Amino acid sequence: MIFLRYRITEQKIKRIITKNKSTTILQDVVDVLYEHFEKYSWVGIYLVEGDFLLLGPWKGKQATEHTKIPIGQGICGSAAQSGKIEVIDNVSKDCRYLSCFLSTKSEIVVPIKKKNTVIGEIDIDSDVPAAFNKNDTLFLEKVADMLSQHI
Ligand code: SME
Repeated sequence: MIFLRYRITEQKIKRIITKNKSTTILQDVVDVLYEHFEKYSWVGIYLVEGDFLLLGPWKGKQATEHTKIPIGQGICGSAAQSGKIEVIDNVSKDCRYLSCFLSTKSEIVVPIKKKNTVIGEIDIDSDVPAAFNKNDTLFLEKVADMLSQHI
């Protein structure tokens, strides 16, 4: 059943990307991710602008103070610099972690790339420890690929 949820959400995101106006695609995709997975406690998209990541659309119970992150700082900045996915099972054990919400236990950051250059990333915080597994990684990589054509 749980695998079905990834497939259903992927289909929904495909429809959003082909049918919705380009101005609303990022927010609509963030909303769908947040609504379909209870363990996704906060979902945001950061966009690369020069040497910084700027927060774009997001959904969660609270706003984050980290709306502008230098590339290379935090989990987000590290993923932007390396171009590699970061999966942090226990954020309190990672010295790079920039804290946004006291309730966050784990985090995943998936770079969005265009021709091997990082142009943005999907950042998801979870209130559940070690919330992100191989299924999340594969699924969110596909979502990042789909989004890259619309940034
Ligand atoms: N925790 C991130 C900062 C962004 S918030 O999670 C929304 C980091 O360490 O880069």
